[in-house]
Amino acid sequence: MLDRLSFRIGSLFFILLIAVLSFFYLLLYSNLVNDRVGEVFESVLDRGNAHSAVLGDYFNPTTLEHVALMEESANYSVVITDREQQIIEQSNQVSQKMREVISREVSNKQNGSTVFDDWANSTFIATVSPIVHNDKLLGYVYMFADTNYIQGLVQNLQKQFLVIGGISLLITLVIVLLLSRLITLPVRQMKDATTQLREGKEHVPLQVYRRDELGELAKAISGLSTDLTRLKKERNDFLSSISHELRTPLTYVKGYAEIAQRSTISETERAAYLDIIRQEVEALTRMIQQLFDLAKLDSNQFEISRREVLLCDVIKQVVDRVTPAFEANGHKLQINCPGGIEVFIDPDRFNQVMWNVLDNARKYLSDQGTVKVEVIENVEEVCINVQDNGIGIEKEALKHLFTRFYRVEKSRSRKTGGTGLGLAIVKEIIDAHQGTISIESELGEGTFVSIKLPKY
Ligand SMILES: Nc1ncnc2c1ncn2[C@@H]1O[C@H](COP(=O)(O)OP(=O)(O)O)[C@@H](O)[C@H]1O
Ligand SMILES: [Mg+2]
Repeated sequence: MLDRLSFRIGSLFFILLIAVLSFFYLLLYSNLVNDRVGEVFESVLDRGNAHSAVLGDYFNPTTLEHVALMEESANYSVVITDREQQIIEQSNQVSQKMREVISREVSNKQNGSTVFDDWANSTFIATVSPIVHNDKLLGYVYMFADTNYIQGLVQNLQKQFLVIGGISLLITLVIVLLLSRLITLPVRQMKDATTQLREGKEHVPLQVYRRDELGELAKAISGLSTDLTRLKKERNDFLSSISHELRTPLTYVKGYAEIAQRSTISETERAAYLDIIRQEVEALTRMIQQLFDLAKLDSNQFEISRREVLLCDVIKQVVDRVTPAFEANGHKLQINCPGGIEVFIDPDRFNQVMWNVLDNARKYLSDQGTVKVEVIENVEEVCINVQDNGIGIEKEALKHLFTRFYRVEKSRSRKTGGTGLGLAIVKEIIDAHQGTISIESELGEGTFVSIKLPKY
């Protein structure tokens, strides 16, 4: 729960919002309190000033008594002193605390002012207004106001703020909860989807239609899931073809071995059957080696150690190796390679490529066939073209040539000893060199293989 993204985002939001809200509420609250208290102070002072103005004009016992009488019933008390701050008239009982305030020195003698403002802790506040007649100071009017009223006001405000604060807190909490859930919802959906993918489900619901980063992520995940499905299918296909490809020669081996064991056959026949068995086992060994190569290429374990080499040297090596096989069948192998072309390749792997391509060309030649190897250097790439005038490949088959175990005619390649893995390996190696390979062919006319390698 605490580690949840929604919780983290939510609490962050919440804390931030509450901090901002509290700040503004406090500001509002203190402003309101100050305003209200200020109003009360002002009205007390106004009242005192009004009394002092009247008394300035009529400073006599009757007026003094009237003023005192006026305040007797109100929320205020008035105390009138002479110049020396000696009490000469009062509306209500004067407490010890009030006397203390009255005995204090009055600083501003011109206008009235507040002399005691501790409304929060005291039972009263006080203002003083000087009584002046023709610029002569006659005495002072002290106004005392009960703080109950102010305290009530403030308490009321506090109550209101608590209620509003509580409601805001609740609303914020609900909004934050909803928002954080809403924001993390697609993420949680994607998590669920990937979990389902791991459990082997193929089609999972993802919000790929979103146009934000989450949509991109969903697209990436859905791409991965398609890849995963494809890989699974490829693996299954591959495994079933392997077992099929292994089973066929093994059936032959078993069959011929059984025949060879019979006591009724002649020694020459037995030798012939054993020879077939040997050939089959050789073919099997070759296939297993090729499978091993492919597995290494797939897992990038096949180390491609590239270096600068003269391309023609590598090609000539292979040509020299396969020429005897060509000549044995009366075929010709011609090579045209301008010297000095440097390429950055792994010579051993490239050897394998050339051997496979030339071996194919030889295997599928018609009688008295010719194979031409031509190397052309362009600005950005080097082309190696292998042209034969053999039996050719039908259009339909062309696009499958690089598929593992694909052979155009299974029976034909039994005779030639093909596995259908050669071109698959060739393609992997060329890909690892960032090159391309393409095959064009016309049935009965011949095949044209073109390999392009980038120059550095
Ligand atoms: N030069 C070619 N002429 C005719 N057919 C070819 C040629 N090269 C390849 N093929 C066809 O492509 C198939 C795949 O080739 P490859 O992967 O090398 O397998 P294989 O082990 O049969 O040689 C072959 O079985 C063959 O039918
Ligand atoms: Mg081959």
